[in-house]
Amino acid sequence: MAKVKSKWICQECGYESSGYLGKCPECGSWGSLVEEVMYDAKMPNAAAQEFINNEKPALLKDIHIGEDVRLKTNISELDRILGGGFVQGSLVLLAGDPGIGKSTITLQTCGQLCKSGKKVLYVSAEESSSQIKIRAERLNIVSDNLYIYPQTNMENIKSQIEEISPDFVVIDSIQAIYSNLVASSAGSVSQIRECTNILMHIAKSKNITTVVIGHVTKDGNIAGPKVLEHMVDTVIYFEGDKYKSYRMLRSMKNRFGNTSEVGIFEMKSDGLHEVINPNELFLNERSRIAAPGSAIIVTNEGTRPLMVEIQALVGSTSYASPRRVTNGIDLSRLHQILAVLEKRVGLDFSKQDVYVNVMGGIDVDEPSADLGIALAIATCARDVVVDPQTVIIGEIGLSGEIYPVNNIEKRLNEAVISGFKKAIIPYGNNLPNSYEDLEIIKVKKIIDAIVSCVSAIKEA
Ligand SMILES: Nc1ncnc2c1ncn2[C@@H]1O[C@H](COP(=O)(O)OP(=O)(O)O)[C@@H](O)[C@H]1O
Ligand SMILES: [Mg+2]
Repeated sequence: MAKVKSKWICQECGYESSGYLGKCPECGSWGSLVEEVMYDAKMPNAAAQEFINNEKPALLKDIHIGEDVRLKTNISELDRILGGGFVQGSLVLLAGDPGIGKSTITLQTCGQLCKSGKKVLYVSAEESSSQIKIRAERLNIVSDNLYIYPQTNMENIKSQIEEISPDFVVIDSIQAIYSNLVASSAGSVSQIRECTNILMHIAKSKNITTVVIGHVTKDGNIAGPKVLEHMVDTVIYFEGDKYKSYRMLRSMKNRFGNTSEVGIFEMKSDGLHEVINPNELFLNERSRIAAPGSAIIVTNEGTRPLMVEIQALVGSTSYASPRRVTNGIDLSRLHQILAVLEKRVGLDFSKQDVYVNVMGGIDVDEPSADLGIALAIATCARDVVVDPQTVIIGEIGLSGEIYPVNNIEKRLNEAVISGFKKAIIPYGNNLPNSYEDLEIIKVKKIIDAIVSCVSAIKEA
């Protein structure tokens, strides 16, 4: 029997120490070190031994790329995020909150791959076969070559992969499986690292595309380790409000494609459906009716612009220190915008509560949303309206000037398609006074934007 020893491992970043530390010296998180028992490092690692690769260096010109290197899922939003489908032999991490729909989308993907003649193994470490069957029936998945395997032991999974030799493997989820090679419990950093390592070797040596599902902790990390992100080829986050019906898939790392792509899905009883025109989701009829405290912006999510409504509510406070509440934007961003509005425009929020909401439950972290947020707040404070046919684009500097934003043409094109008439944009973007059917209002300072909004109302 191999000698065992224990190590203290940071569950946030994977830092190892021989004794307990209150604070991780690597990532600075407190109380994150957990004792994990492991076999002596001198013991030959069975997994590593088995996968020793005897390949010799080859000249670049002599290396042949195989045919059909991408597995297309025929779920167009997913294919787009992956850069045209799963790369054969790649290891993909799909991470997201519990209940967001990770199992659903992977099962749908499995169904689609089976349709195109691929053999698929779905390892379910959390749910029983019958639970999966119920879901598959709900999702209308019928397939002759989809294997469901309820299993939590990595060695058993490995031998089944060897026996079945599938084209595509799903591990649902990595936090629930354990390897005999590591003594600590399932879900710990060393288990996750070992199991992912084994899966990576299988994926690479047998050219099997593998999707690993990972849960995200409350503070937004993939539960346990960032370690996982480094090991895999592609990291996809599944996010959205689980109380609303749509979800966003976002690639955070992709060795084989662009990382700024976003795919939008809607959750229905028969599974996740692609949303081809997301603006219809985010801009409902109501957004087109003038209301104080509402402004429409165009954020640039990946390569696709999205029109989003920002709503603000400003009212006198009954607290000693007024409340600032945001939904979908960073609170510190709101504080900064309020400070600029106070100093450069002369509005006073010291006795006012301010609430800002991004409608549709999405997060907007782009600075180009600043001007829209500021106008929503300013118009609400003064009880005037922004013309609902106007889109607002611009980043605000601390001195109150408006900075140019990237991809302005793309954003404006989206506004044209969605039938908007006017756009308030930064002066520095150097555009003419009209763009296709849009009237362009160029602003240098935040005060100009507010004035042009008010005049837009007078004209209307
Ligand atoms: N009968 C149903 N009709 C509509 N949506 C459902 C139904 N059953 C489950 N869902 C949706 O599926 C979600 C769970 O999906 P699942 O793929 O199991 O999530 P995860 O694997 O990420 O934990 C639920 O939060 C719910 O939104
Ligand atoms: Mg699940």
